[in-house]
Amino acid sequence: MSESQSMNYAYSPPWHDTHIIGIAGSSGSGKTSVAAQLVKLLNLPWVVVLSMDSFYKELTPDQSKLAFANNYDFDSPDAIDFDILVDRLRDLKAGRKAEIPIYSFEKHQRVPNKNTTIYSCHVLILEGIFALYDQRVLDLLDMKIFVDTDSDICLARRLARDVKSRGRDVRGALQQWHRFVKPNFELYVRPQMKNADIAIPRGIDNLTAIAMVVKHIQRALNAKSEAHLKKIAELGEKVLEK
Ligand code: CTP
Repeated sequence: MSESQSMNYAYSPPWHDTHIIGIAGSSGSGKTSVAAQLVKLLNLPWVVVLSMDSFYKELTPDQSKLAFANNYDFDSPDAIDFDILVDRLRDLKAGRKAEIPIYSFEKHQRVPNKNTTIYSCHVLILEGIFALYDQRVLDLLDMKIFVDTDSDICLARRLARDVKSRGRDVRGALQQWHRFVKPNFELYVRPQMKNADIAIPRGIDNLTAIAMVVKHIQRALNAKSEAHLKKIAELGEKVLEK
């Protein structure tokens, strides 16, 4: 067999087409919990959750001052570095590994000189308030989910979490919610629902919707796997014919 022929028969494992699921929804809607539940119910090796928090842009010293005073708008799409996100997603989709920045909510910046590496995975769950926003990201997604949780519940969860694990006080967290999070939810986050394949009302409490999503993902993965096996069998037959 010539070198060009052997290239045609190169083995292409199924994870060269990583299945990517996007989960958008309000801050505090339970995106992280839904993603964790999908991981648990799928019960497959190589399912990875990627949070869009890792892709907040670096702040200038002036912007950083505003952030510490709860006066910086982290709820505008401009706050996210979509170029890097798309770059990493394209790598992962193609089965390549990707370096992902680690974000500190206490410091409002990426942790210096520290990344995590995601190696080629079978299923990647991208979760974030803008997971269904950028057309380049949408083009890479195999399934698009919007978590639709009552805003009072989102606020209650967010306040508790911001104080407990993001180094904030209640007054500042409330200020940020009313100034940026709530208006930008209406402006940018909720409109992403039109891009979703499925909305999950009540988020993590909606076990029926989550079970349906899991079934759908399993069916899609089975179809991919069967198509892959068929391709391998056809290649094998071609090799035998030679
Ligand atoms: N944010 C912040 N400070 C930063 C960066 C982001 O307060 N330095 C806030 C933004 O206001 C944004 C939120 O972080 O609204 C995004 O994270 P969120 O969606 O709340 O967290 P997840 O755990 O990803 O989602 P969920 O609560 O739905 O599980």
